[in-house]
Amino acid sequence: MKKIAVYPGSFDPITYGHVDIITRGLRMFDELIILVAYNPNKASLFSVQERMDLVRAVIRDEHVRVDCSSGLLVDYVKNMGANVILRGLRAVSDFEYEFQMALINRRLNRDIETVFLMTGYQWFYTSSNLIKEAASLGGSVKGLVPDIVNDRLEQIFAKAKE
Ligand code: PNS
Repeated sequence: MKKIAVYPGSFDPITYGHVDIITRGLRMFDELIILVAYNPNKASLFSVQERMDLVRAVIRDEHVRVDCSSGLLVDYVKNMGANVILRGLRAVSDFEYEFQMALINRRLNRDIETVFLMTGYQWFYTSSNLIKEAASLGGSVKGLVPDIVNDRLEQIFAKAKE
């Protein structure tokens, strides 16, 4: 049977930390579904469509599917015929939030397991939020995000300054 995992996140925008988890996840699973999970009431920098487009532009692998959903994650996972949620874990600060999410998801559906991969040490201090903040203030985030994402961030924040 095909081992399918769903890798959910906001991906606002995709960073090299995400790319690291995806690359390593592909060694463990036959197929990865990268799920741009969004909350219509939550503000984001990139639209859902652009977040998906950026993921697709960065990750070109026949074993990867990119999708979006604003619904309950465990329902999405079940509907896709998967039973694993893949998440990356950075330093200690992520632990409590991730632990809570894994437990609530397990309570919601006991057939679905959350699997964590430790983020590569180069990406331990990066997050989409910090990257957006640095870029918005004119800081360089080159090397932390794929070039196509860096270009878009520069465009967005250059426009905001005009
Ligand atoms: O990249 P993020 O913002 O840390 O990802 C969080 C995400 C999208 C995985 C989480 O908010 C989520 O699972 N949302 C889907 C809605 C849901 O099922 N919520 C209940 C379980 S937390």
